[in-house]
Amino acid sequence: MPRKFTVPKIQELKDKGEKISVLTAYDFITAKLLDEVGIEMILVGDSLGMVFGGEITTLKVTFEEMLYHCKIVSKATENALVIGDMPFLTYHTTEKALENCGNLVKNAGVHAVKLEGGKWLTETIERLVEIGIPVIGHLGLTPQSINKFGSYGLRAKNEAEAQKLKEDALALQEAGVFAIVLEKIPSKLAKEVTESLKIPTIGIGAGNFCSGQVLVTQDILGLFDEFHPKFVRRYAEIGKEIKRAVSQFRNEVKTGDFPNKDESY
Ligand code: KIV
Repeated sequence: MPRKFTVPKIQELKDKGEKISVLTAYDFITAKLLDEVGIEMILVGDSLGMVFGGEITTLKVTFEEMLYHCKIVSKATENALVIGDMPFLTYHTTEKALENCGNLVKNAGVHAVKLEGGKWLTETIERLVEIGIPVIGHLGLTPQSINKFGSYGLRAKNEAEAQKLKEDALALQEAGVFAIVLEKIPSKLAKEVTESLKIPTIGIGAGNFCSGQVLVTQDILGLFDEFHPKFVRRYAEIGKEIKRAVSQFRNEVKTGDFPNKDESY
């Protein structure tokens, strides 16, 4: 059965003004749940290094780790378009990008790849698109450049940076990306960029004028308290519920209440 959400379908949603929902997944159960609900695109983000692996940046994620998680997420989904996020230093030359992105499509079954960066990537993007690998761009706060910027703060606050971002967005579109993630930039700038492009923009901390929105699934589910930036809306408090269930299990093991007769053979 063909997938419901393909690259042309994502453009169709943008053209008819329907907002696009995107969430992250790294594992089978989460990916399956998101897919069943109808999330249009599932991103196997390199945020997995932080959210799944407990690192303080995304920089240590390896290609092999991304391959592993992408395989699982692709296997779990039937309709969503699955995007593999290329880890740091796996696409910095065109040659590397062709080899690694191709590997992710061929062996992990992703339908597109995401690359962080602007104009410097255009030649690579052109080649990838040419050989049939759809690419999604990523501008604004690009976490793989954390050492260059020194913080995860708001990006493109001044006119020069805003101008550069607008030019990068147009260059990425020209090179052939099918969408661009805009992370943590002023809402007014995201609106201007969105209005200047034919392809969809997917915002995260970039306000309500983007063509769609992406968030990290664990953030919206309230799985931990340490990270709660203002752009994240928490739709559940699953962390608290897990702790409640786990402590009840612990107590019932201690008291001998679990397992009871019905739970035994
Ligand atoms: O790695 C990731 O999950 C991302 C999204 C937050 C856009 O890049």
